[in-house]
Amino acid sequence: MAADDLAAPRSAEDGPPTVRRAVAAAAELLAAAGVPSPQVDARALAEHVLGRPLYLLPPGATFTDAGPADTGRADAGPAVEGGERFAAFAALVERRRRREPLQHLTGQMAFRHLLLAAGPGAFVVRPETEVVAQAAIDAARAVAAAGRPPVVVDLCTGSAAIALAVATEVPGAVVHAVEISPAAIALAGRNVAAHAPQVHLHHGDAATALPSLDGAVDVVVANPPYVPPDAVPREVEVREHEPELALYGGGDDGLDVPRAVVARAARLLRPGGVLVMEHAEVQAGAVREVVGAHGLTQVRTGRDLAGRERYVVAVQPDPSGQ
Ligand SMILES: C[S@@+](CC[C@H](N)C(=O)[O-])C[C@H]1O[C@@H](n2cnc3c(N)ncnc32)[C@H](O)[C@@H]1O
Repeated sequence: MAADDLAAPRSAEDGPPTVRRAVAAAAELLAAAGVPSPQVDARALAEHVLGRPLYLLPPGATFTDAGPADTGRADAGPAVEGGERFAAFAALVERRRRREPLQHLTGQMAFRHLLLAAGPGAFVVRPETEVVAQAAIDAARAVAAAGRPPVVVDLCTGSAAIALAVATEVPGAVVHAVEISPAAIALAGRNVAAHAPQVHLHHGDAATALPSLDGAVDVVVANPPYVPPDAVPREVEVREHEPELALYGGGDDGLDVPRAVVARAARLLRPGGVLVMEHAEVQAGAVREVVGAHGLTQVRTGRDLAGRERYVVAVQPDPSGQ
């Protein structure tokens, strides 16, 4: 798409292209390409380039007179001037039209109260995982309320989203995060440095991680890869841009990595410790069986905000009965 496609006046009286008109034109192009949320994405790309929310622009502002303000916002766009800003916007719209994930284009993704770095090679954290993180936070807060700093392990941490939510929302929590992908752990390192440098980041396999913490962990949380091999995602953004390592869990049912996570959690957790693990809706029964087979008790399935069964919660039995 050329920048002209976004800039073309609707009529001779329209005058120079305004930001609002360019965003509306971009939304039409994105909608025609099948982008699921075209208005939101067009607006987000313009705000990224301009470094400020569109509601701060005066009516009739163009890309030339609506340059980046010194707002101190962490999401200020690339340093470009005048017409270059419009060209930058047009180029981003074209990439989004080709279905590159919005978060890869802006370099950012929101998770709970955090604005995290995002990029190719690391999974874009999903809204439903906020509920999974909440269950881990609740379990960690219960330990803190009992007077002990909770020890929390996030297996398959990706961008470190869950680990950082726990570290920033549970004062005193000692958080470890484990990731096998070099690209993902590089991004996780940036996020940890920016939001909670006290988080311990470990590059390694969840199946064998942190043997020194066996029996000492209060909460193990994980959003592992769990897509079965025959369930190739329909969305282009996911199918073509998410790392396979982040999607496919292995085995006919996609549960090889989740099974390894449960096995590892059963060793890491102290008596009374809690496992929280995300899975696909259709895997709820199978995952409950896996968890039960490893001796964990009080096994229940949690639902996401759409009411779908999306994560398991279970407790390491406490022989002392406490
Ligand atoms: C679905 S993504 C989730 C990432 C992050 N927890 C989130 O919710 O956004 C799964 C992550 O697990 C990582 N992973 C896959 N197999 C792993 C393994 N055996 N050990 C550690 N990490 C693994 C992938 O690289 C990917 O970052």
